[in-house]
Amino acid sequence: MTEATPKLAWKGVTKRFEDRTVLDALDLSVAPGKSLVIIGGSGQGKSVTIKTAMGLMRPDAGSITLDGECIVGLSEGKRRKMFSRIGVLFQGAALFDSLTIWENVAFRLINADGVPRKEAKERAIEALEQVRLAPAVADRFPSELSGGMQKRAGLARAVVAQPEILFFDEPTTGLDPITAAAINELISNQVRRLGSTAVSITHDLASAQTIGDEIAMLHNGKIIWRGPAAELNTTDNPYVRQFVEGRAEGPISHAV
Ligand SMILES: Nc1ncnc2c1ncn2[C@@H]1O[C@H](COP(=O)(O)OP(=O)(O)O)[C@@H](O)[C@H]1O
Ligand SMILES: [Mg+2]
Repeated sequence: MTEATPKLAWKGVTKRFEDRTVLDALDLSVAPGKSLVIIGGSGQGKSVTIKTAMGLMRPDAGSITLDGECIVGLSEGKRRKMFSRIGVLFQGAALFDSLTIWENVAFRLINADGVPRKEAKERAIEALEQVRLAPAVADRFPSELSGGMQKRAGLARAVVAQPEILFFDEPTTGLDPITAAAINELISNQVRRLGSTAVSITHDLASAQTIGDEIAMLHNGKIIWRGPAAELNTTDNPYVRQFVEGRAEGPISHAV
């Protein structure tokens, strides 16, 4: 082999909804332990990209590999096993509002991994401390927390089982800039601490550069630019320039 096997790779992945091709033979990969950020306009297929890798959406064509093994169309049992290697934080944190914070964080430990409640609670409290939430928060309900604290709890839930791969879908959308910066710092710290491979989506460029080693831009169903995070500011790729500079004029046409 001339190149190390990527942790995760999309090869020729196509996804259509009715007559619209959202992903068009998408090729993308991320090396073990690296943090990749996908940027692009809204509706370009960023969420669909990670949903295909999580087995939540099946591509119409192409393959997706985890450690070199195809994960498209796995049986229920194998999919569940794969899920145990993944942590995810969606936009809005998506906590269960009828469960306490620690029960949310420990949900998969209790329900998928069969960890006894007492131990699960201890591990949940440790994970909460990792995201700088005090143990007293553990017994509260999501509605009692601010948006930023809910995001922290969602991050604690994503990391509690020390997953090999972490997915973050717009983790800072809807937060004020200071809270967003704090969440980005926590995400970077956790990814580094766990040595996980991370794939994140954001349209916030400050977030992209805080949490990404590399950045890939998705446009019209393909990756039209990819490079080290620092090159986002220096590349002369016209699509990236228009996106970064927030200009209405350029190669990216937009529907208003
Ligand atoms: N389950 C679905 N059924 C039909 N269309 C969908 C579905 N999920 C996403 N889409 C469409 O795919 C496109 C890309 O969606 P998405 O990946 O969510 O965009 P974004 O880049 O903003 O995350 C959008 O046009 C969206 O309407
Ligand atoms: Mg999205």
